Amino acid sequence: MGMLKDNIGRSFRVLRVSLLDTCNFACTYCVCEDKPAAKGAEETILSVSELIGLIARLHQVLHLHTVRLTGGEPLLYPELPTLIAGIRSLGIRNIKMTTNGFLLARRVGELKRAGLQSINVSLDALDEGRFFRVTKRTGVARVVEGLLAAKHAGLEVKINTVVMRGENDGEVLPLLDFAFRQGLTIRLLELMSMGHLYGNMDERFFPKAAMLATIAGRYRIRELAKRPGDTATYWATACGHSFGIIANESQPFCADCNRLRLDTKGNIYGCLSSNTPIPIVGIATQRGLEASLYAALEQKQLKFSGSELSMLTIGG
Ligand code: 5AD
Ligand code: SF4
Repeated sequence: MGMLKDNIGRSFRVLRVSLLDTCNFACTYCVCEDKPAAKGAEETILSVSELIGLIARLHQVLHLHTVRLTGGEPLLYPELPTLIAGIRSLGIRNIKMTTNGFLLARRVGELKRAGLQSINVSLDALDEGRFFRVTKRTGVARVVEGLLAAKHAGLEVKINTVVMRGENDGEVLPLLDFAFRQGLTIRLLELMSMGHLYGNMDERFFPKAAMLATIAGRYRIRELAKRPGDTATYWATACGHSFGIIANESQPFCADCNRLRLDTKGNIYGCLSSNTPIPIVGIATQRGLEASLYAALEQKQLKFSGSELSMLTIGG
């Protein structure tokens, strides 16, 4: 239904599905160190057929362009290939996933065969000590192995790096070098005020300007035109490499946001800043679903204002 648009022309063309709200990492910006996420929360997850049913209904109204699978950690979801194949059979062309990459290496073949096209892998450090400081897990080599395996299998691969002052800002140049050498796209993210960081953004915030200053110390860079709907702005180096920055604080990208989120309980959200879940599981009619989608569209803001929910719940 092409009418579902707000007064600045925003609609929903990209659906981000949070498959489960558990994770095998405990990144400090996502999981509160004092209060780690409860184990055994898996019982809240929707089955493959429930998820495909919800996505099919949303697709009928929205003609989705892309579905991105997120978490928590989506590789912990049982029957992930069946889910991907099911989404593909709905005629949705772009199926993507955001993962921490730890369990990726051995799964890439089956995921690719099921129809996955593109993966964003979170990688905040190449140095094992700094990797541990951020994720609270060891195993950076496994993540690197996973993302290279994905690349070799022909998946599109992007690296996401959340940069924090005093934690991993020293990793920006090594990560850039790594990405350039491997021919991978890398995007640096500003810390976002979510979950336990909400209302409490600390001295770890490392702004876009500081990222650019760090990079300009090594490379000659120029900014490229921003693509509509993209969260990142890209820069090119003199040698033809490029990198992106996702600067939710310094350069909000809400004005052309086309994303809708579905959580593990079957609630939709029109905006990352919105904390009000809109349930769609029991809605029987197309009209009822459209009304819920309008309500979600009204949640969209002009500037990200933070959220009490962490990415663990609402997905990346
Ligand atoms: N701020 C910035 N990025 C975050 N992510 C998770 N929580 C935050 C936060 N508070 C990132 C993850 C992943 C993507 C989905 O979002 O590192 O790359
Ligand atoms: Fe897990 Fe991603 Fe949260 Fe890290 S940011 S704890 S990998 S869900």
